[in-house]
Amino acid sequence: MPESAARELKRPPKVSGEKPGIGHMEEFDVNFARFLMRCNAECGELAEYNMAGQQTVLMSGPRAQEAFLKTLDKQLSRAAAYQATVPVFGKGVIFDAPPDRMKTQLKIQVDALRYQNMKHYATIIAQEVQDWVADWGDEGELDFLDEFIRLTLHTACHCLLGSDFRHRMTEEFKALYHDLEKGLQAIAFVDPYLQQPLFEARDNARMRLQELISAIIAERRANSDVEYGDALETFMSGTYKDGSLLSDNEITGLVIATMFAGHHTSSGTAAWTAVELARNPEHAAVVVEELDALFADGLALTFEALREIPRLEAFIEEVLRLHPPLVLLMRRVIEDIDYEGTLIEAGKTVAISTYGSHRNAEHFPDPERFDPDRPRANTPELMWAYIPFGGGPHKCAGNAFALMQLKSIFAALLTQYEFELVDPPESYQDDFSAMVLKPSSPCRLRYKKRH
Ligand code: HEM
Repeated sequence: MPESAARELKRPPKVSGEKPGIGHMEEFDVNFARFLMRCNAECGELAEYNMAGQQTVLMSGPRAQEAFLKTLDKQLSRAAAYQATVPVFGKGVIFDAPPDRMKTQLKIQVDALRYQNMKHYATIIAQEVQDWVADWGDEGELDFLDEFIRLTLHTACHCLLGSDFRHRMTEEFKALYHDLEKGLQAIAFVDPYLQQPLFEARDNARMRLQELISAIIAERRANSDVEYGDALETFMSGTYKDGSLLSDNEITGLVIATMFAGHHTSSGTAAWTAVELARNPEHAAVVVEELDALFADGLALTFEALREIPRLEAFIEEVLRLHPPLVLLMRRVIEDIDYEGTLIEAGKTVAISTYGSHRNAEHFPDPERFDPDRPRANTPELMWAYIPFGGGPHKCAGNAFALMQLKSIFAALLTQYEFELVDPPESYQDDFSAMVLKPSSPCRLRYKKRH
C-alpha cells in the first residue's frame, strides 16, 4: 500500500449505529463476526467503526485482504495492535521486542515447527491419541470440545516442553495456563494494565510459569549431551546475530506464545471437524472409505502415512472455511496509507475478517452449505479469499503442524469409531464469546466402536 500523496483522498465510509463514548463496542461484543459482516454489507470494501475511541477500518474482499496481509510491519504493525499479549508473553518478547530481536525470535519459533521436528511430533501425537481413546470402551458419549481442549493441551505441552514435563504436568500448570488465558479477554485489548484481579492473576501466573520452565532449562543445561527433539531444545539453542542465547524470560515467552497460537485454534477446529463429520454422514463416508483403504494393512500413524490424505484434507479445509478459529486479524497503521484513493490515517487500526471473507457468496456460492468439494484456495482470486491461516509474511507458522495433528487425530478416530450427534444438528453453533472461535457448549457426540 503506497503512502498517501498530497492529492485529495477519500475517507473510509463510517458504519452506522455508533453510541457516545463506546462507539460500536456493545454490538461488537454481542457477536463480533456478525458485526463485521454488517460493516462490510453496509459500507463495502472499507468500513470504519469505533471501538471505544479506537477507530478501526475493516478491509474486505480479496484485493483488500491481500494488501493487508502483504504489507510489512513498519507500515502496518502487529506489535502495536497486539499489545494485550505483552504481559502474557512477557517483556521483551515478540511484540514487545525491538524489531531485530522480534524477527530472530519469530525465526526461532518457526524453526521449532520445521519439517525435521514434525516427524518427532507426529509420533508424540499418535501416542497421545492412543492413550486418550484407550479407555473409551465400545460406546459412550463425550463433550468433544472439552476432550479436544485437554488432548491438544497435552500434545502442545509434550511437543513444546518434552516428555518429562508432559508426564509430570500438574494441576498447577493447568491453572497457571488458565490464568494467562483469562488475561487475554477483549478488555485487555483496550488496556492490558488496568488494576484488575484478572490481570493480577495473569501476572502471577506468568512469573510462576517462568520459574517452572527455568527449572527445566537448568536441568537440561546440566545434561547437555541429551537430545530431546522438542521445541524447547530449539528455543534453547537459538541465537541472536551477536551469538547470544535467549534468556529464560524470552524462552518462556516463546513457549507461551506458541501455546497460545496453537492450542485453541487446534482444539476448536478438531471439535468442529467432529461435529461436521457427524452432521454430514455422506461426506464422512467418503473420508472413512479413504482412511480404511490407506490403513487397511495395519499401517502405523507415522508422519509419512499422514502426508497425503486428500479427502480428509478437503474435509478439514471446508471446516476451516466455515469455522476459521481466528476470525479477526488486526494491525495498527504506523504511516498514513493510500488504499486505492482512500486515506487510512496513522494511529487507526485496520482489520480483516476471515469469517466474513469465507461467507462471501460471490466467492463461495451458497456459503452456508458444507461442501468439501467446492473450490477454495486453488484459483488466484480465491487465494486471498480463503485465508484461515492468514497469508503473506506472517502466514501461520504452525500450519503444517496443525494439519498433521488434525489428520493424526481423525485417522485414529475414524478407523476405530463412528460418531453421531446427541443434540439437534442446528444446536451446534459458532461461539464467539472468546477471541478464538469454537463450537458452542455442550458439544456432545455419541461414539460407537466399528466392527
Ligand atoms: C487450525 C489451526 C490454526 C489456525 C487456523 C491458525 C491461524 C493462524 C493465522 C490466521 C495466523 C496469522 C495471524 C495474523 O496475521 O495476524 C497465524 C499465525 C501464527 N500461528 Fe497459527 N493457526 C493454527 C494453528 C497453529 C499452531 C498449531 C501453531 C503452533 C504450534 C501456530 C503458530 C502460529 C504462529 C507462531 C503464528 C505467527 C507467525 C508470525 O507472526 O510470523 N498456529 N495462525
